[in-house]
Amino acid sequence: MNLSDLTLDRDGLIAAIECTDPAFNEALRQEAYRVKVEHIGTNVYLRGLIEISNICAKNCLYCGIRSGNTACQRYELSEEEVLASAKRAALQRYGSVVIQGGERTDSAFIKKITRLVKAIKALETKSDGGRPLGITLSLGEQPREVYQEWFDAGAHRYLLRIESSNPDLYRKIHPQDARHSYDRRIQALQDLKEMGWQAGTGAMIGLPYQTAGDMADDLLFYKQFDAPMIGMGPYNPNDETPLTLSGAAYPPDDVRLQLGLKMIALLRLLMPDINIASATALEVLHPRGRELGILAGANIIMPNVTPEEQMVKYNLYDRKTLLRDCPNPDEAHKGENHICKNCVFPFCTLGDNLKNGKITVGFGQWGDSKHFQSH
Ligand code: 5AD
Ligand code: SF4
Repeated sequence: MNLSDLTLDRDGLIAAIECTDPAFNEALRQEAYRVKVEHIGTNVYLRGLIEISNICAKNCLYCGIRSGNTACQRYELSEEEVLASAKRAALQRYGSVVIQGGERTDSAFIKKITRLVKAIKALETKSDGGRPLGITLSLGEQPREVYQEWFDAGAHRYLLRIESSNPDLYRKIHPQDARHSYDRRIQALQDLKEMGWQAGTGAMIGLPYQTAGDMADDLLFYKQFDAPMIGMGPYNPNDETPLTLSGAAYPPDDVRLQLGLKMIALLRLLMPDINIASATALEVLHPRGRELGILAGANIIMPNVTPEEQMVKYNLYDRKTLLRDCPNPDEAHKGENHICKNCVFPFCTLGDNLKNGKITVGFGQWGDSKHFQSH
């Protein structure tokens, strides 16, 4: 297949997803990078990821922190720990934080998040103009009142992946009960959008039972929902989950990596001015996976600022190595890579792309989706 044959309708997307020709795949990634630069520039924006808790009321069949996994050691960060992580993010001029955790609807947890959002907003930052940190929440499905309370407290982006836009596939990878309803999830996304959040979504790539048609439909779902930001990434197995234990087949690591990059590239062509995250799940499949994602059209990286002791317990999937993000990207940015020998933070290892200007970093900026601003 040639790039000039590519069409962005369902059939064209399927043909592109199925094409294994390395020359086509490389040309597609380069074109997506070009389209990104043309519409939103070379900047990558950073969100310090705070994994607040691995306690979850849900039981998704693919996820290592599902409630039914008795082998998972549970933790919850204290308010002090969350604030310390946010301060670290601010000090490193990440500009924004993401608070992510298992889905909980108990009122103690909801109030804690409200207090934390307000406290993070009140932190002094080193961001440009002394602007407070931008806050993204990723805490699952919640009643409208809860979304409203958190929005009023000062959070403005919410990430709720649809996981798969195909209701049949959604059903195959979730327990069959009211807590895991596809329709409720769609409703939650709709609620967030209506309330004025920048509502992001996304799906896993390379799941058991997933077809190229499903992946094409995921892309068309993002377009139809008019999502201002997307965080999608390869499925990676966790050995203690029912999905892995069922023995259901899924594509090997190298194929899931290629698919993950290709989905970023195709999405960039479909939606040129949205924010697209280069997922941590890519880094599990390749030591510079997130950098490859940026070169394929993504523009957001979420360096992990969770304390290490708890980070290792946030095992959505098996981590091959602990993803240690550089504690000092400014220094690395100066080209002193020796301080980052064991560090897989892209800005330490991708020296070349930083030096030649293919990638620049929006330190201290919120980096909101241009797509959302243009509405
Ligand atoms: N592989 C990849 N991503 C996963 N997630 C959960 N389990 C896995 C897995 N095994 C993702 C889900 C969820 C996000 C927090 O983590 O898409 O939305
Ligand atoms: Fe909980 Fe999210 Fe994991 Fe599902 S994917 S079990 S909601 S943390």
